[in-house]
Amino acid sequence: MSTLVRFMKRTLAVGAVALAAVSLQPANAGASPAPVVGGTRAAQGEFPFMVRLSMGCGGALYTQQIVLTAAHCVNGSGNNTSITATAGNVDLNSSSTIKVKSTKVLQAPGYNGTGKDWALIKLAQPINLPTLKIAETKAYDSGTFTVAGWGATREGGAQQRYLMKATVPFVSDASCQSSYGGSLVPGEEICAGFSQGGVDTCQGDSGGPMFRRDNANAWIQVGIVSWGEGCARPGYPGVYTEVSTFAAAIKSAAAGL
Ligand code: ARG
Repeated sequence: MSTLVRFMKRTLAVGAVALAAVSLQPANAGASPAPVVGGTRAAQGEFPFMVRLSMGCGGALYTQQIVLTAAHCVNGSGNNTSITATAGNVDLNSSSTIKVKSTKVLQAPGYNGTGKDWALIKLAQPINLPTLKIAETKAYDSGTFTVAGWGATREGGAQQRYLMKATVPFVSDASCQSSYGGSLVPGEEICAGFSQGGVDTCQGDSGGPMFRRDNANAWIQVGIVSWGEGCARPGYPGVYTEVSTFAAAIKSAAAGL
């Protein structure tokens, strides 16, 4: 696994979640907490660009044939036919999901476990679903964000069968930096969460998008789920790759993939 010491310290390893069984119960059955911690079930078709990756991460369709995910979800760059992308249904067990294999992976150049947590996965065939555009400036790096994923609904919890969603407010670099004792890379990471905790992404949501509405009311991706101290703990916001910082690099990498 490429999971680094930093991630091992801060979070559970991706490999552990990749092997975790998908919960057989609807995530919102009874009073159980919702995914992504503190969320609710996403409606079918609400976030059509969402992708589940077979190593236990999330992602979003950047183009119909390229998934944007986290660098810490992949092992490096090159030809790679080992990843399956599942899309098209909030229910991973639905017979109507679309499953496509990877052909290539591009891990962010210079990725070493701190910052630069983005990667592209090329698919064997295009998936005919809407894509999610990425923020190219910092104009949308504020406000309230939506997060979604099939990851754990609490620290140490199971991966989910049904896509979950939640909304979390922007947290300033200064505040997030003080939470994390200097571990934040402010130019490359953006934080979100409530000071009192309770709502957050969690293990298995990594690589998935954090997004909001742009001025034309379209969804736009501003973050990639990266890391945090536990999940939804008071005083520890979620840390996301700041997509606008890497938009030009992502665009050119995708063009050459
Ligand atoms: N690194 C985690 C993963 O591999 C994601 C952690 C997100 N944590 C958080 N508290 N927001 O799935």
